[in-house]
Amino acid sequence: MRTHYCGALNSAHLEQIVTVVGWAHRRRDHGGVIFIDLRDREGMLQVVADPDRHASFANAEQTRSEYVLRITGKIRMRPEGTRNANLPTGDIELLAHEIEILNASATPPFQMDDDNLSENVRLTYRYLDLRRPVMQNNLKLRYRVSKTLRDYLDQHGFIEVETPMLTRSTPEGARDYLVPSRVHAGQFYALPQSPQLFKQLLMVSGFDRYFQITKCFRDEDLRADRQPEFTQVDIETSFMNEEDIMTLVENMIRDLFTQVMHVDLPNPFPRMTWHDAMHRYGSDKPDLRIPLEFTELTDLMKTVEFKVFRSAADLSDGRVVALRVPGGAGLSRKEIDDLTDFVKIYGAKGLAWIKVNDVNQLNEAGLQSPIVKFLPEPVLAEIMTRSGAQNGDLLFFGADKRKVVNDAIGALRLKVGTLQGDWRPLWVVDFPMFDYNEDEKRWDALHHPFTSPKPGHETLLESDPGAALSRAYDMVLNGWEIGGGSIRIHQQQVQDHVFRALGINEEQAREKFGFLLDALQFGAPPHGGLAFGLDRLVALMTGADSIRDVIAFPKTQRANDLMVQAPNTVDERQLRDLHVRVRSADPLKN
Ligand code: AMO
Ligand code: AMP
Repeated sequence: MRTHYCGALNSAHLEQIVTVVGWAHRRRDHGGVIFIDLRDREGMLQVVADPDRHASFANAEQTRSEYVLRITGKIRMRPEGTRNANLPTGDIELLAHEIEILNASATPPFQMDDDNLSENVRLTYRYLDLRRPVMQNNLKLRYRVSKTLRDYLDQHGFIEVETPMLTRSTPEGARDYLVPSRVHAGQFYALPQSPQLFKQLLMVSGFDRYFQITKCFRDEDLRADRQPEFTQVDIETSFMNEEDIMTLVENMIRDLFTQVMHVDLPNPFPRMTWHDAMHRYGSDKPDLRIPLEFTELTDLMKTVEFKVFRSAADLSDGRVVALRVPGGAGLSRKEIDDLTDFVKIYGAKGLAWIKVNDVNQLNEAGLQSPIVKFLPEPVLAEIMTRSGAQNGDLLFFGADKRKVVNDAIGALRLKVGTLQGDWRPLWVVDFPMFDYNEDEKRWDALHHPFTSPKPGHETLLESDPGAALSRAYDMVLNGWEIGGGSIRIHQQQVQDHVFRALGINEEQAREKFGFLLDALQFGAPPHGGLAFGLDRLVALMTGADSIRDVIAFPKTQRANDLMVQAPNTVDERQLRDLHVRVRSADPLKN
């Protein structure tokens, strides 16, 4: 139907007769002449309809937003002074000889060039939202990324193997999506949270280098970087240690950025231990574009009387830190109050601060603050030394349980810091094996229970679980965790040991992971791998605020698909076939 894409035409096509098809993006009636901006997936072309050609002019007059048109005509230069340097086709226009209306359009709920649309409207009419050039570019880039990654892995001897979507629960830590079985009354499949166990079994089968670009399903609290179904670039290898794997995938990401973004990422990526990251940034995925770091004060505050700091410092899991904001003394009371409200979202009870007017006067004359009167001069001196405070700086303080301080002051750091540099990748390594679950009073796997302990740390698994480190690694980019993985346990005794440390007894382990434990007995090779979050990677590359903007048909924060209206009720008969009875949403009625 066409000879060219609209967006592919330029002055090289002058005087040529071409046929284009597309949507009427805008129609402007200039009394006598009608201009139509015709849009297709490659871009926009200005079409001119003049009244001398009656039939096509009549069709141009009838055309409204989003009509589908087929236009044949001649390419000519736009008159001097009307050229648009911002548009690839901005030097030329198409003088229409024939305009055919292939389809009319109802008045669209929004204009395709409106950048201030509510997300609910966009998601309800996603097929229209996806017409917008920004969304077309996002999905094109997403395709380019998965194609480039697939090519890289193919060139490095990886083969793609599909694994089941109807399976049983894998322990990645979120809730499962369940699928009731019709054939087996009362039994359920789970949708995979990741292909973790299958890819390990493929290593036992001898595939050596596996990858898969696949959907994963997790029923968890959603945020800008989390969807209930999302895509992983999942990788597993045999006979490679963490150095080999990290080098391989680091090269892959560098190659990706060079090819797709024409950006050279640092070589090698810096590495930081998990402890160091928590200590300096209160986060296991620090955004290194922000230079601000925490100043540790917990030890110092064990010596003071000031209750807010002292009581936090005395907690077994307490922490007190300062965050120095260079030049921050210019912040107004109102701005500080707003930041105090902001940290409360993360559970902080307050936000103490000191404005450093004169670092040599360690009293209320030199330091403007609600708390200076509670702190003796040597302590103030030590705070200034440790934080490196200069005149004109502002110090914020967090004092609470470690988790609250890390979350609150970590978020504050992102809020008040200024970004420096464009791309700051980082490996976080030496994760602890376990994380103490206060609610359940037990140790949980920080990564997953198949992660190998560091050599020499096996004995700590039960004697001092909190101190045991694992062979896990995460790749972080600009404050987002884009990938994570580990060397796995390939020996059954070690796996048993880890299950014991997690309080999973033999019977439970057999019931849940019997197939894995069996497989480990039949010559399992040393193996390890990782998975990248494709949605997050593409969101970062496009500059999108949310991964929803790089997924064709995403769900809302409440896990709804507003377009197809899922989830939804189903009829009684379907439920009966599945042996399912729906309880009332009101628990008292059940
Ligand atoms: P993990 O749980 O860290 O590891 O997931 C790997 C990567 O997937 C992305 N990701 C998500 N993206 C969008 N929405 C979500 N809900 C979501 N959850 C995770 C992140 C994350 O880094 N089986 C292991 C990998 C391994 O050990 O090989 C796993 O799934 O970018
Ligand atoms: P108060 O003694 O409660 O009036 O607090 C004195 C100052 O300490 C105020 O600036 C509070 O915002 C701040 N503050 C209170 N609790 C904390 C906390 N847990 N961490 C940091 N600052 C706090």
